[in-house]
Order: sequence, then C-alpha cells, then structure tokens
Amino acid sequence: MMDAVQLDPGLVPARVAGAKIPVVDFAPFLHGDAAARAAVAARIGAACRDIGFFYVVNHGVSEALVANTFAEARRFFALPEEEKRKIDIERSACHRGWFRVGGENLDPAKQISSGDLKEGVKIGRDLDQTHPLVVAGTPLHGPNQWPDLAGWRETMEAYYGAMEALGRELLHAFALALGVAEGYFDGWLTAPMTTLGPLHYPPQSGRITEAQLGAGAHSDYGCLTMLAQDDAGGLQVRDRAGNWIDAPPIPGSFVVNIGDLMERWTNGVFTSTLHRVINVSGRERYSLPYFFDPDFSAPVICLESCKGDGAKFAPTTAGQHLLDMINASFSYHKSK
Ligand code: OGA
Ligand code: NI
Repeated sequence: MMDAVQLDPGLVPARVAGAKIPVVDFAPFLHGDAAARAAVAARIGAACRDIGFFYVVNHGVSEALVANTFAEARRFFALPEEEKRKIDIERSACHRGWFRVGGENLDPAKQISSGDLKEGVKIGRDLDQTHPLVVAGTPLHGPNQWPDLAGWRETMEAYYGAMEALGRELLHAFALALGVAEGYFDGWLTAPMTTLGPLHYPPQSGRITEAQLGAGAHSDYGCLTMLAQDDAGGLQVRDRAGNWIDAPPIPGSFVVNIGDLMERWTNGVFTSTLHRVINVSGRERYSLPYFFDPDFSAPVICLESCKGDGAKFAPTTAGQHLLDMINASFSYHKSK
C-alpha cells in the first residue's frame, strides 16, 4: 500500500466559488465570420488579461491524434533507462531529447536539493545540419533525437504539426484582442521555436513540501503554452488574488496559458501566471505541453497598442530570452 499523502497547507488548492479559468469554444474562430471571430478573440483577450489561463475546446485537433500521442509518450517513458539514455538531452547541441527525473528544476529557489519530480522529452523543429539557421550556429536549432520505437517519430511529428497550426490561430486571436492586425505576429513565425515536451510524473506520496513538487511553481518562458493533460489532475494555477486553484482535466480540451515572452511583448497587458503540478493521484501522470515561441531573431519590443504610460521591459529577442530561461532551469545547459 502507498504511503498516505500529506500536503503542506500551502499546497492545498483553495476552494474558490465560481469558474475562474474560462472555457473557450474555438470553433467560431476557425469557421465563423468576422463578428464570430471577434467575439472569440474578445473572450480570449479577457482571459489573458485576467488569470492568463483558459481552456480551449473544439480546437480542431483530432482526439485520436491526442490519444495516440499520449500512448506513444507512455511507451517511451516505460523503456528501460539505458534505452532512454540513448537520446539523453545532454548529448544534444540544441536541447533535444530525454531528461531524467529531476533534470529540470522549475523552482530552483524552493527546490534546492532536487529538481522537479518528472521526466520528459524535448522535441523541436527538426532541422538538419544544412539548414541556414543550423549552419549559422543558432542556439537551440538542429535535429531532434528519436528513440528506436517504430511509429514514434511519425506520431510526434503529426502532433507537433497540428499544434503548430493551432498555435498560429491562437496568435491571430491574440492579435485581434490586442488591437493590432490579425497577422501581426505572423512575420515572426518563419521557423518558430515551438517545442513539444511530453512529461511523465511518477506518483508522489508521503509528506509533500515546496522542496520538491512534480513541477515547481513557475511561469512559462515563451509566448503561449497549449497543454493536454491526462485524467490524473494535479495542475494548479495562482489566480490574481493569490489563491492556488485547480485546473482540472476537461476531456477534449487544451489548457492554454500566456508565457513571459508574451507578457513582455504586451507590456504586461497579458499575464504570465504561476502554476505548478503535484501528482497526488497515486498513479502515473502524463501530460503533453506544447510551447509556442516565435523565430529566434524576433525582436520582443512593447506593442504600440500596449504602451500606456511607457514600456516596462527592456527590448529583447525571443532567442535571447529563451536561452536565459533554459539556463536558469536546466543545470546541464549552463555550461553551453
Ligand atoms: C510545464 C507545465 C504542466 C503539466 O511543463 O511548463 O507547466 O501539467 N506543465 O505538465
Ligand atoms: Ni508550465
């Protein structure tokens, strides 16, 4: 029998009345007229200005593809460690491949002696050595590492492509919600740095403190994240009042959230929100986060429509920002 779970009081989600994380039906944006699209964009914009999280349903990504991708992720994580080590992220020059439990630490200030209680795989845009960005030595650009599992690569690539298409549509909605042209962000999406990162969270038991969670409290680095979670639960989000609330699994949905880069781009108009994962389900938990980031060279400078009383953040580029964030949470990467 498993040890009883004993959560530190600060880790117990608050019971807050009313739905805090809105559910957005995306079909009218994909298939509707201008008025229908504007209405969806307004709902999304309201969520991004408030809690920075929403669920998207009727998003057009096939349920079968999501289910297959989960099945393939489980198949990989069930391999013996020596098989997984063949695609160890430390062998990659561009941050692709498998990282062990503890390999990522999303809250190094609190998780001092161990990283997150999860393992994962980083899958990015698959660029061979002749691609101009790779020839130029652009950090984070290059080939993926694939495990020796028949069909695995094909499923991951299909999911990667479908989520990239959805991410582009979500950015169109963001642009409308921000009062700029719908295609505003498209100019920075030539070879966007989008990453699929399947995760496996072992069950956690005993006394649980902030010193080690499934995923320590963090905000995401990039523009937006689209997350498929299984039915284990355990994702928590901190609302604007400072309460940690549950983001429970909703079948057929993706959880979408704003990352730091978009917060910066919008001068804080869109909110990048802290969240964390604690797997107290008593079983394995799997999730499929998809991080959507623009081109490495994309300048991230306060949008005119968000300027208000002035820019709050120094200009940066998407690439520099991502490198800074990866160095903060992956100790192996700092030496690169
Ligand atoms: C992340 C994250 C949540 C989850 O990887 O940034 O917040 O449910 N994941 O796995
Ligand atoms: Ni996250």
